[in-house]
Amino acid sequence: MTNCPSFPDAPLNPLPNLPQPPWYANAIFYELYVRAFYDANGDGQGDLAGVIARLDYIKELGVDCIWLLPICDSPLVDDGYDVRDYRKLLPEYGTINDFRRLVDAAHQRGIRIICDLVLNHSSDQHEWFMQSRSSRANPYRDWYVWSDDPNKYKEAGIVFKDTQASNWTWDEGSQQYYWHRFYPQQPDLNYDHPAVQQAMLDVAGYWLGLGVDGFRLDAVTYLYEREGTKCEGLPETHAYLKRLRQFVNERNPAAVLLGEANQPPIASLEYFGDGGELQMLFNFPRMTTTFLALATESAAPLYRILREIENLPQGAQWGTMLRNHDELTFEMVSPAEREFLFNYYAPDPRQRINWGTRRRLAPLLGNDPRRILLAYSTLLTLPGSPVIYYGDEIGMGDDIALPDRNGVRTPMQWDDTANAGFSTADPTRLYAPVVNEPPYDPAHVNVAAQQSDPYSFYHQLRHLIAVRKAHPAFGAGRLTLHETANPAILVHSREWQGERIVALHNLSAQPQTFTFPAEFTAMVATDLLTNTEYKEMGEITRLEPYQYLWLSTWTSH
Ligand code: GLC
Repeated sequence: MTNCPSFPDAPLNPLPNLPQPPWYANAIFYELYVRAFYDANGDGQGDLAGVIARLDYIKELGVDCIWLLPICDSPLVDDGYDVRDYRKLLPEYGTINDFRRLVDAAHQRGIRIICDLVLNHSSDQHEWFMQSRSSRANPYRDWYVWSDDPNKYKEAGIVFKDTQASNWTWDEGSQQYYWHRFYPQQPDLNYDHPAVQQAMLDVAGYWLGLGVDGFRLDAVTYLYEREGTKCEGLPETHAYLKRLRQFVNERNPAAVLLGEANQPPIASLEYFGDGGELQMLFNFPRMTTTFLALATESAAPLYRILREIENLPQGAQWGTMLRNHDELTFEMVSPAEREFLFNYYAPDPRQRINWGTRRRLAPLLGNDPRRILLAYSTLLTLPGSPVIYYGDEIGMGDDIALPDRNGVRTPMQWDDTANAGFSTADPTRLYAPVVNEPPYDPAHVNVAAQQSDPYSFYHQLRHLIAVRKAHPAFGAGRLTLHETANPAILVHSREWQGERIVALHNLSAQPQTFTFPAEFTAMVATDLLTNTEYKEMGEITRLEPYQYLWLSTWTSH
């Protein structure tokens, strides 16, 4: 694979002789669950043909790169994060040829595709594991982690702590325990085995050969185990990720690796490996902190987390999000903050799971478009490439009656017809019911209605996305944090090639007054969202509830 010529890496109006940001720094990502998106063949399940049919919708939103949740063949104990065959698609989704068609159709529209790559574990139904457990003498035995002692690696935490008591499961047939960081049906691969290391590189090579533009690397912290450690982010894991990076970029120099590692910001830095490891990493602590700041109407938690790392090394970029397909995790905050967040965002115990809450963005923020847009405004102006979870662009709701994290994986609501326009199947055949409770039912929340209303939430978000994309400072600019005496106001600026954008956010439900930091008061500015001109920024002394401003000022170079 070579770099596809239809993707210019240069931003708008670049100045000569200045380093250009990589494509992913200015990209908007869209996290897409194929099963939930659009059912093209009427069997009640979304499919790749359905994604192809809706690519124009994704393009219109302003998306540059789609991240596909797992699409490989799987028994679906963990919604595809339990892979049975890394080279075959889940039959309900289509065939490898459908996948090629999707990649082509996306590329024709200038949209890239990255796929989930589940490195850490396979399904217990994978041929490798079936061989491995069949007898201790089988050549695949050491492809997985076996032990006689279930107390080994006891410092490693349990991720699915609500349902799992141990990371070891007894295998009756071969009379040993096997290791799994997630469900027992997801045995961990043994990365100490060179054949495993190579096999997973080959899997990456296979998908690169099909034209993918990179991978979202699932659960990357857990690849290796060592006694006396938490078995997270070990040096061996970093070494393997560096090897993977080299392998991937030799085949496609523009391909990106976006890692899932729920770590404090400083620990996250290691995954960028001075430019030689992952290019992108999700910023989980920032996500949680955004919710803390919104709940307390205080910018302090955001200032705190942003100060830990203001600017990343060149070429490295956060993947930032408000919600995703899992629970909103409260793991990376203090116990007192965690308790506060649980009580505030998940007062009903059914809304809780593991380390967080299994609710969607709109319900979490009281279905108040001002608050939701404020949250998006922080996402779009602070460092990182935003990753939007399907359905959140129209404010979809969730269904806590569904088990596990399924409540945030319900069918996309395209219109207010049967099955929300998602499928023509009989409603009893849908993989999951459409959310049917007002105010989140299709009569209130659907794509068609929001597209035809120029003042809808969807159009407001789309406008924010378009403005962000027209200003590379948001993707690649240097961050500076500013402070006012008013704790409800967040002020930061992004600077890139002579343009400085100052973003202001009022996190509170009340109007707030403030005084601009002295350095700005005499500057001329344009509000990028409304085109209002200010002769002096000092004129701005008040923000309405949940108001945000994106002020552009030009400095001489
Ligand atoms: C990641 C995925 C999650 C999955 C787990 C195990 O955390 O986001 O959905 O259950 O890995 O693969």
